[in-house]
Amino acid sequence: MSAPAPVIAIDGPAGAGKGGTAALVARHLGWHLLDSGVVYRVVALAALRRRADLAQGDRVAAIARTLDISLQPGTVTVDGADETLAVREPEIDSAASKVSALPAVRAALFDMQRSFRKPPGLVADGRDMGTVVFPDARLKVFLTAGAQERARRRYRQLKDVQPGVSLRALSKAIEERDRRDRSRAASPLAPAPDATTIDSTAMSIDAVAEAVLALARERGIGRP
Ligand code: DC
Repeated sequence: MSAPAPVIAIDGPAGAGKGGTAALVARHLGWHLLDSGVVYRVVALAALRRRADLAQGDRVAAIARTLDISLQPGTVTVDGADETLAVREPEIDSAASKVSALPAVRAALFDMQRSFRKPPGLVADGRDMGTVVFPDARLKVFLTAGAQERARRRYRQLKDVQPGVSLRALSKAIEERDRRDRSRAASPLAPAPDATTIDSTAMSIDAVAEAVLALARERGIGRP
């Protein structure tokens, strides 16, 4: 049997720059891309629309199993409808963090996430890519940034689409989400023991992507 396709796992807290970095690295290598946070966002959106209790793991997991999710760079389609903007609404930030704490929901999404692993390779970003979903990833990066900087980045992303948004409220929401993602029992946000930590506070996304590609080259993966 041939070896499974190689994986680069990029995990870390909200606003650390995982999504942008993963997209650049995948594009440079010509590899597939999995933004696993979007998968939890889609489940949260579907659960809210069906008025499900977000604390009921079995109910939310049953909803998760019915969804036909298609991820293309920059576009999220669910059961044929474009939900790219809907999954980025602030109420989905916190709902996704809640449903992602439910072990039944994580189990329901496990195989679906692993199905993204195809030749020539996969760049996957999230919270547990290197610890749980792809423990044999060839390269594991844990991307962090200071809490203030992460809130500022989110603010810059949102201020044009949500003119009333406040940096203070975003800071609070990010802290709350991090606390929940780190303290949950099921696959908490934490670096894998064999992960390389990169602090992106004072780095551009291009510089972070270059650092990840340099680590990949050291491991003999990707283009020279
Ligand atoms: O990266 P993001 O902000 O789009 O993720 C949304 C939520 O999903 C986040 O609060 C934590 C959760 N998540 C997770 O638990 N495991 C992942 N692999 C990815 C995201």
